[in-house]
Amino acid sequence: MAEQNIYDNEAFFENFRSSRSNEANFNDCIETPILFSMLPDLREKEILDIGCGMGQHAKQYAEMGAASVLGIDISEKMLEYAKAHNSAEHVDYRRMSMEDIGTINRQFDLVTSSLVFDYAEDFGGLMQKIHGLLKDGAAFVFSMSHPIVTAWDGVYDRYTRTETGERLYANLRNYCKEGLRKVDWVVNGYECYHRTVSTLINSLIKAGFVIEECQEAHISDEMRERYPALFGGTIHRPEFIFFRCRKHS
Ligand SMILES: C[S@@+](CC[C@H](N)C(=O)[O-])C[C@H]1O[C@@H](n2cnc3c(N)ncnc32)[C@H](O)[C@@H]1O
Repeated sequence: MAEQNIYDNEAFFENFRSSRSNEANFNDCIETPILFSMLPDLREKEILDIGCGMGQHAKQYAEMGAASVLGIDISEKMLEYAKAHNSAEHVDYRRMSMEDIGTINRQFDLVTSSLVFDYAEDFGGLMQKIHGLLKDGAAFVFSMSHPIVTAWDGVYDRYTRTETGERLYANLRNYCKEGLRKVDWVVNGYECYHRTVSTLINSLIKAGFVIEECQEAHISDEMRERYPALFGGTIHRPEFIFFRCRKHS
């Protein structure tokens, strides 16, 4: 596998595991509630979760009545954790890179993905592969980092701050320049891909999807006040972007 597999890096995995298990974290407090609010009825559905990570979502999909959930991920460590902590009947975890999903020889009622497509070099090609894996009329619901967030190259603070450290506004750099961003974040040389909002939308349309809903990350004032260090910046920029799409029936 030539793709970056940063979650098998011990330090990166441990950072992710520990922050995701904190009482307050971006996944449980922001990403998951919005993504789940966009899901269709899961009862009796066959679901593919791309980049399932530690399996929290896959297990919940099974508990919500899914007929089957296939969770794929490139990281052995993430899958090891998923199998140990989030196994369930009708949930199958498999090591596979998202670039290889064209080899899956079946179709699904729903494809989901949470915060994985930042790592896709060929976003348009991936959308086409996902379209091919869906039954007619089936849904595709996903989140990824908001392009406002990936327009960063690590050489400056993400926020302009007052002398006392209060975030005044969010900074952007080279928003219009798409492609690989290599930054020192948790580890040296973390890689993700930046794309503009219009590229995301047009890639979905070109793949044949109807876009039914788009959301941007949001959180309540109460949570911002309760966890100012963690969520204080969310007033200035949406951390994630979400889409619910459908394959034409
Ligand atoms: C931010 S984590 C999200 C995990 C999970 N979806 C969640 O919401 O907790 C990103 C996940 O994408 C996986 N990933 C990164 N690149 C991948 C690739 N090329 N193919 C499949 N999975 C990949 C990582 O191993 C990691 O588990």
